[in-house]
Amino acid sequence: MKFISIQDAIKKGRGNVAIRGWVYRARGSNKFEFIILRDSTNVVQCVLLKEKFEKQWDEIDKIQVETSLEILGVIKKDKRAPTGYEIQVDKINIIGLSDEFPIQKDLNEELLGDRRHLWLRSRKMTAILKLRSTVVGALHEYFRSKGFYEFQSPIIIPGGAEEGPTMFELNYFGKKMYLAQTWQLYAEAAMYALEKIYCIAPSFRAEKSKTSRHLTEFWHTEMEVAWANLDELMDYAETMIKYVIKKVLEKNKNELKILGRDIKKLQPSLKKKFPRITYDKALSILKEKKKMKVGWGKDLRTIEEEKLMEFYDTPIFVTHYPKEVMAFYKPRDPKNPKTARCFDMLAPEANGELIGGSERDINIEELKKSLKAKVEKLEDYSYYFEIHQYGAIPHGGYGLGTERLIKWICGLDTIKDAIGFPRTMTRMKP
Ligand code: 4AD
Ligand code: MG
Repeated sequence: MKFISIQDAIKKGRGNVAIRGWVYRARGSNKFEFIILRDSTNVVQCVLLKEKFEKQWDEIDKIQVETSLEILGVIKKDKRAPTGYEIQVDKINIIGLSDEFPIQKDLNEELLGDRRHLWLRSRKMTAILKLRSTVVGALHEYFRSKGFYEFQSPIIIPGGAEEGPTMFELNYFGKKMYLAQTWQLYAEAAMYALEKIYCIAPSFRAEKSKTSRHLTEFWHTEMEVAWANLDELMDYAETMIKYVIKKVLEKNKNELKILGRDIKKLQPSLKKKFPRITYDKALSILKEKKKMKVGWGKDLRTIEEEKLMEFYDTPIFVTHYPKEVMAFYKPRDPKNPKTARCFDMLAPEANGELIGGSERDINIEELKKSLKAKVEKLEDYSYYFEIHQYGAIPHGGYGLGTERLIKWICGLDTIKDAIGFPRTMTRMKP
């Protein structure tokens, strides 16, 4: 008989089935053994009658959580069973015995982190990883459907684009190199060839932040577009997020249910337009409605972003941050030269910044001036100045923290659960 998935066996609902998977729970009496078997698709209750398995009973008695099995039997509806069906087992093959599984219900986050390689099998992590796969797939689909090419940049680079101290140094045959925080500077070079490009790849940040939304290695979804202005970039960002949420709601209702996520929290983001406010407006909302004073010229802190987001049930865009506290490539706004033509997209429910983006400065003298204040060797960036020497055009792009989006969609407490094997300042293993 051909093996089918547990989900397909349940769909079939009656008659003979052959399934295989791992023991989720097992409990016996002197007449029966009840096994709940799981595979990647679902769980199902299986019942073995002792009188049928007299010869194998010693072996069956040794079955523990995570033992792998093949089971042949007859499936039928049973209201009392966890997923509404039960299999009367005719034949059982034990494939791999299991030691006592070292994860019990009430392990704390640290211990679950230490056993991550096993904890991935939990219903919670399995649900998140399936949803993550939908999110990454949807991001690729989105960009490809809009005519973008996928372009990859190097991970080992001579100098960075975001703030210097947040880069991991690498001993590269005795020379100092870094792990990339962003593909952006290389993307701008490739933009002159391909015009519309995107990439989903790891980025690295040596940030010493022990928060629920910082990883040292995260998957960065970035895009760069020729001729685009700030409004067009925000249009892309908004339709991209809407597209991903739509796909998740189509494909992962079941996973959201397992995670206990209230999907009503996501629905406004499908229907409503995301508000676009300036940094100045954000400061005045904070001052008037929250009695929080932020001195003009400071970047918004987490607490300020969270307070601001209490007024919204969809992501919002905050634009025109103060030029001086922004990365060197964000251009001044000619209409208000103290500000930059940039935006952050903030997520609701205290999830903070999802996306950072901007138009790009193509004034080489301005670029050199802004960079000089921040980096050791300007010559490492000579290629970057050079790309704007030959037919420079207006352009821009953005970067999305893929795990931050997954954290928000799933309603997770920590970003660490949005990725299989998280890396943070204190979490390096397994
Ligand atoms: O705002 P950031 O630093 O922007 C850039 O790197 C631009 N060069 C992107 C571009 O325009 N191509 O980072 C972009 C996003 C943030 O909004 C955040 O969601 C995510 O990357 N991010 C992190 N996610 C998890 N852990 C961290 N330590 C992150 N740092 C940034
Ligand atoms: Mg940012």
